[in-house]
Amino acid sequence: MSSKPTVSFADQELPDSGALVLFAGNDRKTGKILHEVDKKSAGQVRKAMDHAGFQGSDKHCLDLLTPNGHDFSRLLVIGVGNMKNAKPSDFISLGGRIAGYLKNDKSAKLTISTEEVEGDVTFSPQAAAHLAMGFLLRRYKFGKYKSLAKNNNGNSAKNLNKLVIGVENPQEAAKAHEPLTFVREGVELARNLVNEPANMLGPVEFAMQARELEKMGVIVDILDEAEMAQKGMNALLAVGQGSEKGSRLAVMQWNGADNKNEKPVAIIGKGVCFDSGGISIKPSSGMEDMKGDMGGAACVVGLMKALAGRKAKANVVGVIGLTENMPDGRAQRPGDVVTSMSGQTIEVINTDAEGRLVLADALWYAKETYKPKLMIDLATLTGAILVALGKEHAGLFSNNDHLAKKLEKAGLVTGEKLWRLPLGAKYDKMIDSNIADMKNVGGRFAGSITAAQFLQRYVGDVAWAHIDIAGTAMGSPKSEINESWGS
Ligand code: BES
Ligand code: MG
Ligand code: ZN
Repeated sequence: MSSKPTVSFADQELPDSGALVLFAGNDRKTGKILHEVDKKSAGQVRKAMDHAGFQGSDKHCLDLLTPNGHDFSRLLVIGVGNMKNAKPSDFISLGGRIAGYLKNDKSAKLTISTEEVEGDVTFSPQAAAHLAMGFLLRRYKFGKYKSLAKNNNGNSAKNLNKLVIGVENPQEAAKAHEPLTFVREGVELARNLVNEPANMLGPVEFAMQARELEKMGVIVDILDEAEMAQKGMNALLAVGQGSEKGSRLAVMQWNGADNKNEKPVAIIGKGVCFDSGGISIKPSSGMEDMKGDMGGAACVVGLMKALAGRKAKANVVGVIGLTENMPDGRAQRPGDVVTSMSGQTIEVINTDAEGRLVLADALWYAKETYKPKLMIDLATLTGAILVALGKEHAGLFSNNDHLAKKLEKAGLVTGEKLWRLPLGAKYDKMIDSNIADMKNVGGRFAGSITAAQFLQRYVGDVAWAHIDIAGTAMGSPKSEINESWGS
């Protein structure tokens, strides 16, 4: 998306131009290279540290322009404190931090030297690779609709075209970085989709984005409204009834496992390209954010892209329900009853609780068609999850402790944290309807849980997890690795 520097891994050497980043640990611990740089500058670096009170603790940063005795034009010494027990997410963040410091730097070349810092910090090849990924993720900008900045995509550090990471073992680091480039591209695709306005990216255009993955060897199947109607997906279709735009269901299959017959993992995403609330219309303030109500589906497409790029040895099927929720003479009404593909009937109390209607058919279709060994859905499902968890954790719900634990752990490693909430029979009872099998809202309390209970009625006994990303997919606070609205 943005003009990207090429990334390479090389032996640790002092650069002859551009900016140089070196690290320091607690109590101003440094490595050999920094020592040498200081010597060649006749102690200028030390002096600058003294003046700045630089200690090398986490988040300290010494910025020295045109250091004496060197050809490179800028030296950044970044304090990292003690990173002995650092996780991948810490190195990703560190890379992002560096990009943040150098946002307005005009150098064409940046060298980051990952030398060991007296036992406080050691960079494995993996760590160096994570650092590079974090750096590039931070530089992401959605500048597509800025007419003036078109050529550099709104990126102020437009001059940078070369990122060199100095490492112990360049081959190993490059090898570790390769799969991560695909993960980053998946993230960037997901961010792009979330940032796109709904007049540009409706269900049909979104489905075409899924179709693009065919080029990478993903098998893509797109159901239009007639095909969905024929399969009985009336819950999903009811949501799109008031929209000028047609609904779609897109299926993306990646069969990378050695055993092609191995049951797949199914990942299901909510793709409401715009959620006005429908007849139960939302207040106008902040409604523009509902262009991001397809964050779950964006995540699934990004994931499929990453899997295909990495040639992941796994069988994974992504299923996304794409539609738009609008008020109209043909829109569904509060009180309507629809029959979902599963045969279960739903009384639609509130047309703004539409995500669960979309997922009801998408989950059922995934389960029945692909007999997955497990299912995970991602959805910007409830405002209530923001009330409960804010923007720090996504909500996790599961009928399977093992799966839930694995997801929680993955969240800690990657920095995309999850917090599990309960499910149970008493909550389930809250969505019983007087006239249908269930209603689509459970009342004022436990809104995120009753939404999850609703979904659970469509997963049978398949191991399943639901991740409510309403608080984390978009409008999240700026972080070390993301400054764009879509995260
Ligand atoms: N798309 C919204 C949930 C949402 C809210 C996502 C804020 C991101 C930020 C969802 O479709 C919705 O409107 N849910 C209702 C459910 C209610 C009517 C039971 C909500 O959360 O208010
Ligand atoms: Mg809604
Ligand atoms: Zn919604």
